[in-house]
Amino acid sequence: MSTETYHVVFQMVCSRCNRKEVIYLRNYRLRLCSFHFIDFFERKVFDFIRKFKLIKRGESVLVAFSGGKDSLACLLSLRSIADEHGFNVSAYHIDLGINGYSYTMRKYVEEICGELGVTLHLTDLKEKYGFTVEEASKKRKRPVCSVCGIVKRYLMNRETRELGYNKLATGHNMDDMIEFAFKNWLNQEFEWLAKQKPLLPQLHPKVTPKIKPLFERTEKENAAYVTLKGFEYPLNECPNTYLSGWKEVASKIEEMKTGFKLMFIKSLEKFSYPLRQGDFKVCSLCGEPSSSEICAFCKVKTAKI
Ligand code: AMP
Ligand code: FES
Ligand code: ZN
Ligand code: ZN
Repeated sequence: MSTETYHVVFQMVCSRCNRKEVIYLRNYRLRLCSFHFIDFFERKVFDFIRKFKLIKRGESVLVAFSGGKDSLACLLSLRSIADEHGFNVSAYHIDLGINGYSYTMRKYVEEICGELGVTLHLTDLKEKYGFTVEEASKKRKRPVCSVCGIVKRYLMNRETRELGYNKLATGHNMDDMIEFAFKNWLNQEFEWLAKQKPLLPQLHPKVTPKIKPLFERTEKENAAYVTLKGFEYPLNECPNTYLSGWKEVASKIEEMKTGFKLMFIKSLEKFSYPLRQGDFKVCSLCGEPSSSEICAFCKVKTAKI
């Protein structure tokens, strides 16, 4: 009787070729090599833009580039399909003046845009408006994140319009949107929730349309995409980041029910709620759209101790 032993080594290979698998996408039951994952990711972004009519031919898109992996994935994927789709892409960064964080992110954004040959528009909050988000938070006695949100929304809208771009693209991913949906649903903020769509249309002549091309892409996919494209990105988080725990809850459900996140996000795309129309005024100090006499940004800017 033969005593020979056979060692069988299983190595997972790509579902589309014979190369080694680098990522397994459970939702799609796909094992992909580096080449086919990049191709899959860019195709998905392209199809999503077409499906939701996010960008028209000939338009100029400004990508809000924070320096994190998600907005980098947004910038790289839009650039890769821009010619085929007939639009052009530039980047926008806000230096918020956050100690130990903003400097690193700004340097990184400048370096990447230089390397890619992408036009970068930059706003240095302290230099242009005389305050940082941390200073304003102390004066207004509001959490830094809430002041930061006001500043970002205001500047992104204003700069996109004044610089003459048609759309502002952010790097929000599927996990961000699910977290947002949980929070808003529980706080009964249904109108806010209904606005969180892949395309937020122009609701007022001074409000620029906003798009979220990575609405159906996960954090894991974004990280894999930028890494496989050969980019490293800063891993440092903003010191003011507050972890709500909802992303972990969604991941636990996903572990028990494969496909939960994708099904949830597709429902969010369809969720509607009557939006209040025509309650936009313009701020009496800066002329930007506002729901009150003085806009939230001007209140932050003019706050006294
Ligand atoms: P966050 O509000 O930090 O979750 O970021 C959401 C998206 O806003 C990012 O994916 C970026 O597209 C954009 N963003 C955040 N911070 C900045 C920044 N400092 N400059 C430009 N865009 C930003
Ligand atoms: Fe806005 Fe952290 S990035 S407070
Ligand atoms: Zn392959
Ligand atoms: Zn104002």
